[in-house]
Amino acid sequence: MYSTFQLAKKYLKYYLTASNGKGHGVHSPFVFDFITNVLRDKKTYDCYQTIEQQRSKLLTNTNTIEVEDFGAGSSVIKSNKRVVKDIAASSLKPKKFARLLFRIVQYYKPATVLELGTSLGITTCYLAKANEQAIIYTCEGSGAIAAIAKNSFANLRVNNIELTEGDFAKTLQPLLNKIGKIGFAFVDGNHRREPTVEYFTKLLNHSTPSTVLIFDDIHWSAEMEAAWKEIQGHPSVTLTIDLFFIGLVFINPDFKVKQHFTVRF
Ligand SMILES: C[S@@+](CC[C@H](N)C(=O)[O-])C[C@H]1O[C@@H](n2cnc3c(N)ncnc32)[C@H](O)[C@@H]1O
Repeated sequence: MYSTFQLAKKYLKYYLTASNGKGHGVHSPFVFDFITNVLRDKKTYDCYQTIEQQRSKLLTNTNTIEVEDFGAGSSVIKSNKRVVKDIAASSLKPKKFARLLFRIVQYYKPATVLELGTSLGITTCYLAKANEQAIIYTCEGSGAIAAIAKNSFANLRVNNIELTEGDFAKTLQPLLNKIGKIGFAFVDGNHRREPTVEYFTKLLNHSTPSTVLIFDDIHWSAEMEAAWKEIQGHPSVTLTIDLFFIGLVFINPDFKVKQHFTVRF
């Protein structure tokens, strides 16, 4: 994992060099449409406030839970006993990104949505509210964390989520076999090169031309940057959008020339 200083330097470089989506830099009509109608959509949707109220509750929850340590990404808190509010503060996607994921699902309307790494279920709720006709499959290794996520789903009365407990190494392939084709996947757990590329390969086998794959923390460590490069270079990938904290991957063969964009968000 990069130090805070290294990460800040990388972010600054990203910020100064990324396209702002206006004027030059974006020659793809698809990406232009994405920037205009999804990335820069500033509307306030009904669910935003209620989901954030649930996040606020978690941020004040002082209960201690016993957590199994799965993969990388948990470096902030080392012990196996964790206070819920610390998980809420360090592990969840901030609202800016959770809401972007909401808008992506709302705009492209994938019929099946998959999240690897439920944690306390806040981003899952955003995904579920984005398309109540879709089933949101979400996977979490820690039973104690999954129990809190289920409580979040019940509090927010979201009924279109199916949570699978267990290590992704054991649960992902059987789940993909059950789902068949996936329309959208958000990979947000086990931030190491090998598992990330492995998840990508498995997801690819269950994708269609309109599938959107999103990877979290693509610049978080040298390993994750290597994984991101490998994914970008895969022959099936026709378009990627780097938003620094997340990376979007498209495999639509209609995008005839492979293109990689870095867009300021
Ligand atoms: C960064 S958190 C997910 C945050 C969540 N997507 C959100 O935005 O609210 C990652 C979660 O993935 C789980 N995880 C990491 N590696 C895993 C693995 N190999 N199998 C199962 N769960 C894993 C961790 O227990 C943790 O709760």
